[in-house]
Amino acid sequence: MLSITTKDIENLLGFQVTNQCKELIENFSLQYHSLSDGERDQAVIECIDKLLSNVSQVGSHRQEVWENGWNENLQNFILTKEYEDLIPKYFEKQSAIDCVARWNNNFIKTKTENFIYKIFTLFVDCIITKFINEEFDNIYEFGCGTGYNLVRFSKYYEKMSFIGLDWAKSSQEIIRFISEQNIVKNIDSHNFNYFDIDSKYEIKPNSAVITCCSLEQIGDSFKDVVDYWVSKKPKLCINFENENSIFDDSSLLDKLSIEYAKKRKYLDGFYSYLKELESKNLIQIIYQKRLYSGNIFHEAYPVFVWKVL
Ligand SMILES: C[S@@+](CC[C@H](N)C(=O)[O-])C[C@H]1O[C@@H](n2cnc3c(N)ncnc32)[C@H](O)[C@@H]1O
Repeated sequence: MLSITTKDIENLLGFQVTNQCKELIENFSLQYHSLSDGERDQAVIECIDKLLSNVSQVGSHRQEVWENGWNENLQNFILTKEYEDLIPKYFEKQSAIDCVARWNNNFIKTKTENFIYKIFTLFVDCIITKFINEEFDNIYEFGCGTGYNLVRFSKYYEKMSFIGLDWAKSSQEIIRFISEQNIVKNIDSHNFNYFDIDSKYEIKPNSAVITCCSLEQIGDSFKDVVDYWVSKKPKLCINFENENSIFDDSSLLDKLSIEYAKKRKYLDGFYSYLKELESKNLIQIIYQKRLYSGNIFHEAYPVFVWKVL
């Protein structure tokens, strides 16, 4: 049995994580096995079968799907008020022990429950706490879904305010409930649609903007929202999002990930656009990393940290 250690995470990220994140890594106790050659072949076949099947595509037609998904979380959360009921259901499909996942640029067999949820949120928390300190006043998460990321972040920052935005009204209902129940003190929500940007919506001074797998959902329609952020000049932007161009299409795992992202019509071209804005001296890209982990079909998610100049 192999384990993921703080050193593994720090080597991958290239910085030392906070003590709280070290504790998280220890508590998660992420364990896995390598695959035999036969198991690896089976994993590749599963990916090919997926690519040959009728996979749903993301886009503007999916608003109701998200409304319904977050409403399901809302109904459960109203009953329990437990953080676990804010975790998106799509993680459930890949939560069992022995499911195949990606780690360190390879397929592995998970030996810890909820491995994929845990490794992703772990990376998110390590990166957020590295780049956002107590001097920021607000964190805006665009495409926040249930707001579970913001609930976790509230444990790291005493004085911060949190704003969760999403096109699904059920997302705002969840966040309203979180606020009413005083689960997070300073949390607010706002309806925001990437396909119909409300440029009058202001971002308060001294704010960080983040996205976790939500730009993913809008394919190549990301320029309007990036331009909106540039115009509002947040102090920092952090995006955990798909980007085919930083994968290596001569590697089998990367190739499978790229083809899966293309099939689903996930975000593509985002990094090139950031680089274009950087070449015009409009923004500066501060940090960019692949996380070399994800589910069997897809590596989730490279991170981009940048600021408006
Ligand atoms: C994969 S979920 C990610 C949710 C959450 N950020 C997370 O880390 O799990 C994608 C999110 O993007 C939102 N979304 C999709 N299209 C959107 C759009 N056009 N405008 C705003 N939000 C959108 C969905 O409602 C959903 O909450």
